[in-house]
Amino acid sequence: MKFFLDTANVEEIRRINELGLVDGVTTNPTLISKEGRPFKEVIQEIAGFIDGPVNAEVVGLKSEDMVKEGRELASWGSNVIVKVPMTEEGLKAVHTLAQENIKTNVTLVFTIAQGLMAAKAGASFISPFIGRLDDIGKDGLELVSKLKQVMSMYGYDTEIIAASIRHLPHLEGIALSGADIATIPGSIFPKLWSHPLTDKGIEGFLKDWENYEKNQEEV
Ligand code: G3P
Repeated sequence: MKFFLDTANVEEIRRINELGLVDGVTTNPTLISKEGRPFKEVIQEIAGFIDGPVNAEVVGLKSEDMVKEGRELASWGSNVIVKVPMTEEGLKAVHTLAQENIKTNVTLVFTIAQGLMAAKAGASFISPFIGRLDDIGKDGLELVSKLKQVMSMYGYDTEIIAASIRHLPHLEGIALSGADIATIPGSIFPKLWSHPLTDKGIEGFLKDWENYEKNQEEV
């Protein structure tokens, strides 16, 4: 299973990348807007040190505009993936870009049918949004499992990026669902390696060690 970071914050990406846990990065217009820096500069900086896909999203709604933007984004780095929204125009753009060997990630996927359409149009990745489905009372994790089943059943190479992850149980559910990739916000990542009993255990061991050392000095 691969882990992507769902952020455009370079410091956050560098910090977690130092642990050897980052296989790629996803951004979207909301995440880019939070950084207050030029889009191209941010994407190129990230793509320069991340050894894996770095996703940058188009903002046009017409396929011609998406294709134009997509070509430009792809020219920013050999590992830049073009994120395209799941619409009819988006599918058309994905199809055109795939013919030019430009990799796409179809985002805002909420049904099996949408995932299948994106894979068939030629998307390299699809992004089902788990948390946003949970928000409307649907089961986001179930969608990921079913998408995985469908992709394997029909032999699509399209990789599933489980997105809109809000908490640790989401991540653990995604791991069991067989998703290829989980894209995780920087705020959630530390929760993956932490546990209160780990902290309590360290504290106990250190206290006992201190006492042991004191006793040794006295001997
Ligand atoms: O990767 C998608 C993500 O950025 C959206 O997350 O929490 O706004 O649904 P969220």
